[in-house]
Amino acid sequence: MPTTPTIYVCQYRNCLDRGSAQTLTMFMDQLPDGTIALASRCMGQCSSGPTVRVTADETWYCRVQPDDVHTIIDQHLLGGEPVTAKLNSRLHRTFYG
Ligand code: FES
Repeated sequence: MPTTPTIYVCQYRNCLDRGSAQTLTMFMDQLPDGTIALASRCMGQCSSGPTVRVTADETWYCRVQPDDVHTIIDQHLLGGEPVTAKLNSRLHRTFYG
């Protein structure tokens, strides 16, 4: 049974200081049907926040600002292609060599 795609947006200290509340709001306002967005505790990627984790494909994004949300939704959630420019390089080394 497929898992509902879920977007977790960190709402803890460092990420909040960098605008993650607005990022979460943008996801909630623009989500495609069948997808959910949730606030998250710290996900251990504080130096590169706001941190966004997308399941079920375990894609981790860094420094996600409200202006990035439309691209992530359009290209990744609807188009099936991760937004490589926003991938967390510590967790997605294959894109960085
Ligand atoms: S404060 Fe957001 S990942 Fe740690």
